[in-house]
Parts: sequence; C-alpha cells; structure tokens
Amino acid sequence: MSPFLLTRTLPVDATDAALRADVLQGLTRHPKTLPPKWFYDAHGSELFEEITRLPEYYPTRAEREILIDRADEIARVSGARSLIELGSGSSEKTRHLLDALPVLHSYVPVDVSESALHGAAEALLAQRPGLSVHALIADFTGGLALPGTPGPRLIAFLGGTIGNLLPDERAVFLKSVRSLLSPGDALLLGTDLVKEEKVLVAAYDDAAGVTAEFNRNVLRVVNRELGADFDPAGFDHMALWNPEHEWIEMRLRARRAHTVKIPDLDLVVPFEAGEELRTEVSAKFRRDGVRAELGSAGLRLDQWWTDSGDRFALSLATAV
Ligand code: AVJ
Repeated sequence: MSPFLLTRTLPVDATDAALRADVLQGLTRHPKTLPPKWFYDAHGSELFEEITRLPEYYPTRAEREILIDRADEIARVSGARSLIELGSGSSEKTRHLLDALPVLHSYVPVDVSESALHGAAEALLAQRPGLSVHALIADFTGGLALPGTPGPRLIAFLGGTIGNLLPDERAVFLKSVRSLLSPGDALLLGTDLVKEEKVLVAAYDDAAGVTAEFNRNVLRVVNRELGADFDPAGFDHMALWNPEHEWIEMRLRARRAHTVKIPDLDLVVPFEAGEELRTEVSAKFRRDGVRAELGSAGLRLDQWWTDSGDRFALSLATAV
C-alpha cells in the first residue's frame, strides 16, 4: 500500500463558509471582486492545466526550465528530507525536484483543490513508491499547521501564485512561512517578472480563449455552490496591465445591465452594463522587490535564479 494520507485542515462546511463570506463581501462592494482561489474546482483546475500548455502562457515553461537547471543545486543547498509544496496543483514541476532529492522522506502537497491533490499524489507515488505523502486540503493564506515530518524542510511555493496576493497579504503570508522555518529549513519561491506589457497581457488573454473560460468558471462555481444564476456568457473576459502596481488584473465585464440572484445568501446583485468584476490580481516582480519583501518577513534571499529569457525567477531564502 502507498503511504498516502489526506488531511482536511478545514472541514467541508468551513470551505463553504469561506466562499459565502467572500462572495457576500466581494459582490456587495464597489468595485466588485471575487478572490481567485475559487477558480479551482475540478473543471477550473483542468482549465488551468490547459493554460499551462498554451503558447502565450510562458510562466510554467520558464519556471520548469529553472527547476530542471537548478534541481541539483536546490537539493544540495537544502538537503531537504521533507518537501512542503504550497498551492501544489498537479505537482507536475515537483517531479524534477524529486529526482534530485534521493534523501527525501516526505512530500506534503497543500492545495484548495482536492481533485488536484489526488491526481498529484498518485503521479508522485508512481515515480517514487515509498515516499510518504501527506496531502493537506488547505488555504495556505490561513496559517498552516504542518505535519511533523523530518527536517530539513523545503517549503516550495511555485508557479508565481504569491502574485495572487495583494502586498499586505503577501507580508502576512511571508511572515507565516517564516514562522514555519527552523534553522536549516528553506523557502523556494517562484515569481513571475515584470516584462513587456504585450507579452504579459497575451499570457492572460490567449487566442484560444482558454483563460476566458477559466475566468468565467468562477461564476459557475458560485452558481453550483450557492445556487446563483450567473450567465457566464453574459460577461466578457478582460486582462489588463496595471503599471502602477505592476500586476495583471483579470476582470469579467457585464455585457448588459442585469441582476443575479444568489438564493443561498438571500442576495440580489445588480450589474450595470459594462460593470467590471475583478477576479484576479497576478503581480509581477523585480529582484529588489522580492529581496525587500522577504527581508521584511525575516527571510534572507540566498539565491536568485532566472530562466534564459529572464521571464521568471526562483528564489531560495532562509530565516535570518
Ligand atoms: C496559478 C496564480 C500562478 O497568476 O499566472 C493563469 C493563474 N490566471 N492565468 C497566474 C492564472 C490566469 C496563475 N497562477
């Protein structure tokens, strides 16, 4: 039998309560917002996997290139016996690290998507039978309790997902990660980098329309979970570069004035024609900014690796 354990740190109804609170808060304020974590039901997770294979969406390939190039170095420097991966998704990139980490004892994938965790655990156990896998269904922004796996620990937060957090949220998050690190442990952080606007916008507005469907999927999640009657086709997908904050914003723009009923919240939400609902912020970074944010959380940037196109960076940090 495979040593696979799945732990829900939040009960199913707590996830539900979080969704209700986010939807109530986000749709009764101006401008309207919904947090990006609700994209990732089974269908949304599949759409995201599809996005990672699109010609325009370079971050996954750029990060994979760095991981393949630097896996041995990451393994040597960290000497990790436990790999904790926050927002692990399909764990596709983790496989490159596994091969470089023969001494790895435990893998702890943490994700909001249970379906993604199952698929990931299966694939990794096929590659490394005997690896102890302890999957956590959890929202890593909520303060984590990690299982007592052997050190040194390497906490990986890949894909550039830290960019989904606003600056204040990143500060809180990095401090919580810092609090999980003992001497000898390290953080491996993936960040997408600031670059030409047209390259960034294309990555979030692909020609095949996959990202548009991914964006609209959050409306389907709210329909299913809260009985709402959003018409996803009634919204246009938008991807905009915000040069002041250096982030990409995804929005859904209502084509015409209408109201949406959300029975489970006893809520009727009016949309004006052209009104925009912000569904995601995806911040892009520079080295000095990453170093400063890590520093404020009590972390030191030890290594900064980029891909050959300087599009994406992996940082290795330790507690100061
Ligand atoms: C999974 C959060 C890294 O921000 O690039 C992809 C999600 N959104 N296309 C990103 C996403 C639109 C992705 N992250």
